[in-house]
Amino acid sequence: MSAPKKLFIKTYGCQMNVYDSERMAEALGGEGYVETKSPDDADMILLNTCHIREKAAEKVYSELGRFKGLKAEKPDLKIGVAGCVAQAEGQEIMRRQPLVDLVVGPQSYHRLPEMEAKARTGEKVLDTDFPEEDKFEKLKNRPKAKRGPTAFLTVQEGCDKFCAFCVVPYTRGAEVSRPADRILREAQDLVERGVREITLLGQNVNAYHGAGPNGDMTLAQLIWELDKVDGLERIRFTTSHPNDMQDDLIEAHGTCAKLMPYLHLPVQAGSDKILKRMNRAHTAESYLRLIERIRAARPDILISGDFIVGFPEETEEDFQATLDLVEEVKYGTAYSFKYSTRPGTPAAERAQVDPAAADDRLQRLQALLTKQQREVQDSMVGRDVTVLFEKAGRFPGQMVGKSDYLHAIHVADCDRAIGDLARVRILSSGANSLAGALIEK
Ligand code: SAH
Ligand code: SF4
Ligand code: F3S
Repeated sequence: MSAPKKLFIKTYGCQMNVYDSERMAEALGGEGYVETKSPDDADMILLNTCHIREKAAEKVYSELGRFKGLKAEKPDLKIGVAGCVAQAEGQEIMRRQPLVDLVVGPQSYHRLPEMEAKARTGEKVLDTDFPEEDKFEKLKNRPKAKRGPTAFLTVQEGCDKFCAFCVVPYTRGAEVSRPADRILREAQDLVERGVREITLLGQNVNAYHGAGPNGDMTLAQLIWELDKVDGLERIRFTTSHPNDMQDDLIEAHGTCAKLMPYLHLPVQAGSDKILKRMNRAHTAESYLRLIERIRAARPDILISGDFIVGFPEETEEDFQATLDLVEEVKYGTAYSFKYSTRPGTPAAERAQVDPAAADDRLQRLQALLTKQQREVQDSMVGRDVTVLFEKAGRFPGQMVGKSDYLHAIHVADCDRAIGDLARVRILSSGANSLAGALIEK
């Protein structure tokens, strides 16, 4: 038998890309590939790319350039570009970087095995279709390998919201939900392989409306079905849009014990003028009222968000409204970005904010968000939380896991195994993590 071929995958961007990379590795696993951690011994290199901001897209080209020597040494090496840059730029990638043999979009990667075979014959192959078929159903040869305690599971993909800055509706396509029975089967399979916590993924995950036994189901209904899966201990979901936050989902946060008290709910900005220009279809006030309702259902929920500063036409006064909103919400964690012009999106055509002003705003916003994040983290000291252990720590006897609120928790003198859950008393708060001790030995 010949030695297995080696596959090196590098993943950029969001959690859905992480999930997709796993699926691609499985698809090529069926063709005799095993994964390697180094591009140097790979027979195939796949970059699973992100197009969300200019920097993310440019990284791909600089990374590709670095494979030139490798390819010269190893003419059989195949190089592929997958993900959102592949979708957005397609053929242009091969024009710009002739080293690339294969380009595959996020909706057609179930065809990778055939594409790889063609590439092996020396052909350049490109597939950025949005096919009718469900790629997840076409993916075969899923190995039953053991998994770590946490996993992602895509339940919804694509977006119909068309925020004026965003490429996702173009790269991921129209909003589609997977049928519930397939998701439940996949969840069951993950649990059998050792998974204890599943994060349901979707670009607008709370717009989920997949087919169920009695018509379309909401995300909350799907969560209640997952709640019945024995051995599954924790359910999370990301990313939600404020406009799709339905009553039954808010209620589930108060009543479903497996649903974790953490919600990523991007608002982007605090000025109604800017929100309107962003095509967000919510106001600062409606967002704040929504947060109030969610906190009424689950008072200790940790709120996370995304922000864009320096969106076209944003004034200092508009930016101040963002700071005001942040002050009011008190985020447990947040991601903030300087607006990045994306060709083909409506905002790209508008009056851009002076980059120095945008930098300054980003710094001020990040200072406030970091302060809040630290305060929320510090407020955990003295409290008891449940920790799911994910790995051994740096010190002997130490284990590291995540609390219900997704804080990283270090526990010394810990005799628990990876995948165990335990009650932990929080003793101190560090730069990016908390330290605690097992309550029951
Ligand atoms: N709903 C999506 C959002 C994806 S993009 C999801 O599944 O996460 C993640 C974040 O990137 C957005 O919430 C937004 O804050 C930021 N973003 C998107 N386009 C951007 C752009 N052109 N410039 C700067 N930040 C952007
Ligand atoms: Fe992009 Fe807006 Fe859709 Fe999120 S809701 S993916 S930011 S278009
Ligand atoms: Fe990036 Fe595509 Fe995800 S653009 S953020 S990889 S959906």
